[in-house]
Amino acid sequence: MHEFQAVAKTSELVDPSSMLIEVDDRLLVLIHAAGHFYALDDVCTHDGGPLSDGPIDAEAKTIACPRHGAQFNVETGSAETMPATKATVAHEVKVEGDQIFVRLKE
Ligand code: FES
Repeated sequence: MHEFQAVAKTSELVDPSSMLIEVDDRLLVLIHAAGHFYALDDVCTHDGGPLSDGPIDAEAKTIACPRHGAQFNVETGSAETMPATKATVAHEVKVEGDQIFVRLKE
């Protein structure tokens, strides 16, 4: 069972934006969209593209892979559009004061 780890301050991420973070040697993309924070594996399930370099659609709650454009739901990690068909991993996020914490899902 993983513990929550402090990863960033809320002020470090304007809305919408994302940043690359490392938790236990694992690269994640931390996302701020429409007032909420999310954390996904920084790996597109199509061919490994870095989601942290892709654009966010705050209204649709998606982040797009910069390589071939697959979109992933920022909350669940599910693949919303081709060419990705498998979800990426979504991790647990909580905010206390101005501190963002992430707990790895697996
Ligand atoms: S590597 Fe992400 S869409 Fe192809």
